[in-house]
Amino acid sequence: MSAPLLHASGIDVRFGGVHALRGVTLAVRPGEVCGLIGPNGAGKTTLFDVLSGMRRPDAGTVAYDGADITRRSPVWRARHGMRRTFQRQQLFGQLTVADNLVVARDWRGGTRAGARHRERAAAVLHDCGLDALGGAYAGGLPVGQARMVELARALADPPRVLLLDEPASGTTADERRRLAAVIRRTAEEEDCAVLLVEHNVAFVMELCSRVVVLDLGRVLAEGTPREVRADPAVREAYLGAGAPREG
Ligand SMILES: Nc1ncnc2c1ncn2[C@@H]1O[C@H](COP(=O)(O)OP(=O)(O)O)[C@@H](O)[C@H]1O
Ligand SMILES: [Mg+2]
Repeated sequence: MSAPLLHASGIDVRFGGVHALRGVTLAVRPGEVCGLIGPNGAGKTTLFDVLSGMRRPDAGTVAYDGADITRRSPVWRARHGMRRTFQRQQLFGQLTVADNLVVARDWRGGTRAGARHRERAAAVLHDCGLDALGGAYAGGLPVGQARMVELARALADPPRVLLLDEPASGTTADERRRLAAVIRRTAEEEDCAVLLVEHNVAFVMELCSRVVVLDLGRVLAEGTPREVRADPAVREAYLGAGAPREG
């Protein structure tokens, strides 16, 4: 198995009296789709904020490609191939779908998008089923399509790490199938390390090769979808005591 590309160790975050993360350790490897699940308030988004550099942890380190990046800015991380999407969407509503992708590129690279980048953007829009929407204003899209645009923007140039915060929320079954296909292909063909927070457990179990369960700021369990689903502590804390075992 390849070495972790993104490796958080012993991450602690406090918000006043709330101890949101308590010694969380988590590693994601290139080419894998790792799921991060847990009840509301477990600390999933806070961990994403730490991984993407939007919040400095009170303790612990984040390593990227073997180097300590705990104190690196979100911009530095983005320039070095780390991308995230947000639980509450953060599209540029006044811009077209296509321009949302171009802006992402320009901001990261500091140059006007060249022909190669326009080609990449067109291919990504196609993969995401957004060909017909390139000229539409992002602000007017239904939530499922907006989620696809957020993913497309994160892929505007090939990411090395992709942090997706609830990408499937508000999507239809068809949109979820496409979302899953694009995420899987990005991991497998571009060797990207994907970490995915999602409440839709079926979506996570289908897409992820490994799942980490957070509860009350700690890693409660970690393993294959099958192992995690069978774990009594997970069933108790999250899946509900009456959850079906398989299928
Ligand atoms: N900016 C903040 N200020 C104070 N408390 C926060 C803040 N962000 C998150 N929290 C608290 O930290 C805990 C983890 O929240 P969060 O990371 O959003 O969980 P999740 O994404 O798993 O639902 C919760 O108790 C939440 O209320
Ligand atoms: Mg959250």
